[in-house]
Parts: sequence; structure tokens; C-alpha cells
Amino acid sequence: MATDDLGTVVVTGASTGIGAACALYLSERGFQVFAGVRKPSDAQAVTARGRPNLEPLILDVTQPETITAAVQAVQASLGSKGLAGLVNNAGISYDEPLECVPIASLRHQFEVNAIGPVAVTQAFLPMLRSARGRVVTVGSINGLIASPMSGPYSMSKFAIEAFSDGLRRELAPWGIHVALIEPGAIKTAIWDKATVNDWSAKATPAQLDLYGEAYRQFRKLIADSAQKAVPCDQVSQAILHALTATKPRTRYLVGKDARLLARLAALLPDRVLDGVLRKAMS
Ligand SMILES: NC(=O)c1ccc[n+]([C@@H]2O[C@H](COP(=O)([O-])OP(=O)(O)OC[C@H]3O[C@@H](n4cnc5c(N)ncnc54)[C@H](OP(=O)(O)O)[C@@H]3O)[C@@H](O)[C@H]2O)c1
Repeated sequence: MATDDLGTVVVTGASTGIGAACALYLSERGFQVFAGVRKPSDAQAVTARGRPNLEPLILDVTQPETITAAVQAVQASLGSKGLAGLVNNAGISYDEPLECVPIASLRHQFEVNAIGPVAVTQAFLPMLRSARGRVVTVGSINGLIASPMSGPYSMSKFAIEAFSDGLRRELAPWGIHVALIEPGAIKTAIWDKATVNDWSAKATPAQLDLYGEAYRQFRKLIADSAQKAVPCDQVSQAILHALTATKPRTRYLVGKDARLLARLAALLPDRVLDGVLRKAMS
């Protein structure tokens, strides 16, 4: 295990899942890691790991005051050293038919998954610029294929594709590399949350008449994907490459499912792809 000082990184959404695994993984490979969490109990859990180079950082990506406080805390710790990396990982998912999703939920979806990473990146960019650090954002294969019933989530992940491409092109003059991670199904709490947040339990009878069956098929597909999901370490490895490689990639598809779906999205005409997705959900 490497113990070099690779510099300091901030990882958002590090209480569970990919963020928690990635924060630990990067700390084991020689980064000083600030693990972004929202709750004091999650901050205590990070501290309880007993790793001097893994520290909690209170950070809610939708709350400007916590972003400002987080930047000040990292700045105080780094002095003039600058930040080697920012991993925009925090994310949530609303899986509901687009005809039915409450607009407030859609806004929240975008606040966390799309606006949050922009706000956090803006806030840390001065520190990233001074170290020629890197920005790595966790998107999703749903940023390349919008599947029915997860329209809100897919919309936010398509937005993050544009964010990462646009930012990479804008920051190239300063040699700041920007990468996007596009995972398929990864074993994390997000699947349990999807099971708990059952849209059909709150849908009206009229909505269920329209979408009940499609949603039931979607839930079967989700349960199946959760079974086949791969461990978080595959994402951590891609993030490490994006943060440290001499020639980092602009995108990292993680998992066989993501690679297959990305190929289908690139090759198939829309109507054919619609049919493939319809078949997968029947
Ligand atoms: N798992 C997959 O199959 C998969 C596939 C493709 C992409 N992804 C992406 O990977 C990322 C991590 O997801 P995961 O699967 O690891 O899910 P997860 O275990 O549910 O973790 C989500 C993390 O985001 C945090 N979070 C939620 N709202 C936040 C906010 N407003 N501010 C800051 N943090 C917030 C959560 O913190 P709390 O505990 O405080 O809520 C948690 O730490 C997401 O961007 C997700 O879209 C996951």
C-alpha cells in the first residue's frame, strides 16, 4: 500500500457507499482525505476509523453556508499548499414517472446531483488552481441512457455530463484535469433507498392506472440490478486513476453493464434503443 504524500482531496457524500469507500481507499493510497458528511454521527464514524489522514468535513452540497465553512476548514488546514483533488460524489435518486414527479422533488434532485457539484467546485477552485488539482465527478450510466421511471435521476446525470465536459474545456488553460466517472450498478445503500422510496405507495389510483405496471417492472429490474451490482472498489480505482495518472481519461465507465449500455447508446438508433429498453422492462 502506497504511503506517499499525494496531497489533499475532498470527497463529497462520504457517509456511505461509493463516497465512504473511496475516501478510505484514497487515504490508504497516500492522500490526505477530507470526507464530506452531513451528520455529526457520520463525522464521528469517520474519525472512529482512526486514520490520521482521513478527516470528516461537514458538507451539504445544497447548503451554501456549509460549503463556505468547509472551504474555510480545508484552507486553514492546507495553508498555501493547494488542493490536489475534489471528488463530487454526493447524489440521490428520485425514480418516478416524469408525468407524476412533483416539481419540488425534481428541483431537489437537481439541487443535489447537478447544482451542488457546481457550487462545491466553484468554491474549491481557487485552492485547486493553486495546486493544479483535479476535479472528478461521479456521474452514472444514466447520464448516457435515460431509462423510463428514473427520468428525474437521468436528467440530473445528463446535466452532470455537460458540467464535466464544459468545465474540462474551460479549465484546460490552467492544466486542471476534469474527469467523469460513469458507473453501472454498484453495491451501495442507494439500492436500499430505492426500495424504501416506493413511488407506487404514494401514487394516486389514476397514476397507478397509467404507470403502475411499468413501475412494477422497473422495480423488478432494479432488484435484479442490485443483485448483480459490483463492489465500490471498482469505482475507487477509477477515481484514483483520474486523480493520479499522467494521462487521465476524460470518462471512466465502471462495470460491464455500463460498458455494454454505453455501446448500445452510441450505436443504436433511438427507436431501436427504445425497443431494447422496453423489452428489458417487460
Ligand atoms: N450505486 C450505484 O449503483 C451508482 C451507480 C451510478 C452512479 N452512482 C452515483 O454514485 C454516487 C454515490 O452514490 P452511492 O451509490 O454511494 O449512494 P449512497 O450510499 O446512497 O450515498 C450517497 C451519499 O450522498 C450523500 N448526500 C445525499 N444528499 C446530500 C447532500 N445534499 N449533500 C451532501 N451529501 C449528500 C449521502 O449522505 P447522507 O448519508 O447524509 O444522506 C451519502 O453519503 C451518486 O452520485 C450516485 O448517483 C451510484
